[in-house]
Amino acid sequence: MSTAAIIDGAGFAAGLRARVAEGVAAFRERTGRAPGLAVVLVGEDPASQVYVRNKGRATAEAGMVSIEHKLPAETSQADLLALVRELNADPSVDGILVQLPLPAQINENAVIATIDPDKDVDGFNPVNVGRLASGLHGFVPCTPLGCIMLLKDRLGDLSGLDAVVVGRSNIVGKPMAQLLLKENCTVTIAHSRTRDLPAIVGRADIVVAAVGRPRMIRGDWLKPGATVIDVGINRVPADEPGKTRLVGDVAFDEALPVAAAITPVPKGVGPMTIAVLLRNTLVSACRRER
Ligand code: GUN
Repeated sequence: MSTAAIIDGAGFAAGLRARVAEGVAAFRERTGRAPGLAVVLVGEDPASQVYVRNKGRATAEAGMVSIEHKLPAETSQADLLALVRELNADPSVDGILVQLPLPAQINENAVIATIDPDKDVDGFNPVNVGRLASGLHGFVPCTPLGCIMLLKDRLGDLSGLDAVVVGRSNIVGKPMAQLLLKENCTVTIAHSRTRDLPAIVGRADIVVAAVGRPRMIRGDWLKPGATVIDVGINRVPADEPGKTRLVGDVAFDEALPVAAAITPVPKGVGPMTIAVLLRNTLVSACRRER
């Protein structure tokens, strides 16, 4: 029985980060300054704290300046919007990322809409969402852009392939579908109300799973030879009592004998997100220097 190739997202991300670091060195040489990424964390959500710490470290490792703003959980929306406006106006800041989710008293959409679209390295501002949908230059959300990079590296031209995206979030599912459409795939977006998900998934040459439900997509749903991108990062109890482990949205062991290639969890899509964030920040700095 054949077994799927494991797509080395961690390795690809390391290569991308090295290329970004080279680009940053050339930028510094040319302009006399380093690109700056401002990351704003409101509150003490443990997962968000880990992400923000990792982003700060990766930014510095790439030779960029990391500007971290940590605000208390009870921060008002007005205070957060004031900080975002300050960062918009600060010429040393090329990229702004406000870590989501935000506390309940803050309207996420209002914050995202206030970030200068030309510093919006997350690609969440409606201006960038519209640019992506219209085929214009803008910032593209990091995780889906990382997925497309892995798919093109693996498959080359994606034209005409049937792609199914499972999940319709603004952060992954919807932009992922736009990017696959741009690559000339025939795209289906499936979600929690989709009827007969196994049959829909079974038609796909490319499956992108971004639902946040551990092992929801089963191996016997997949078309033989499909390429599977698993965006899920779910913490579940491990075999050892008291321990946990990370699993994706796809039943990895079941998919291995059916798929042609699959991203693992961890070390698949996850590391791509930060690598693309660094890439978007360098792109922003270069555009702003022109
Ligand atoms: N929370 C989970 N993923 C992300 C992301 O890509 N960007 C931001 N800003 N917050 C997130």
